[in-house]
Amino acid sequence: MSRAIGSKYIVERSPQAQEYHEAVKDVLNSEEVQDLKDYHHHHCMTRFQHCLNVSYYSFLLCRKLGFNAEQAARAGLLHDLYPECPKCDRRHLTTHPETALENARKSFKLSKVEADVILKHMWPIRKGRPKYPESYVVMMTDKYVAFMEFCIYLKQTADMSLKKHI
Ligand SMILES: [Fe+2]
Ligand SMILES: [Fe+2]
Repeated sequence: MSRAIGSKYIVERSPQAQEYHEAVKDVLNSEEVQDLKDYHHHHCMTRFQHCLNVSYYSFLLCRKLGFNAEQAARAGLLHDLYPECPKCDRRHLTTHPETALENARKSFKLSKVEADVILKHMWPIRKGRPKYPESYVVMMTDKYVAFMEFCIYLKQTADMSLKKHI
């Protein structure tokens, strides 16, 4: 069962998440995306959970703004599709979108919008301005979600050090 952080709806069975689930279920259930559960991301969660967070909130935002929510959601799930967990250095920050796009293309037929979303999600750190509104939504949602995930990590760390001193 999958649920984006901060959401009370279980993607696979909540009526409120049904539209989202319909849009992404083949990608969500794929071995490639499920395998992301084996990798840590932003210290405190799996890469699967991070991609689900980005995908789910991008879907809601695009639907609200009248953009293509389905394509944003599908590409959101694939935007960090790289299995290895290298050091998070500057090189990795700029090269992983290409790796993710290459990996996604091996398993899924991507639209131009979906490919752009994946490739441009690290703008402006990586050169190449997003071309479509969906790409901007996912790019900003990714940054917002990463910040929230980092705050969760800081809170967990603070709670643990507090416990040690009690
Ligand atoms: Fe990324
Ligand atoms: Fe990301």
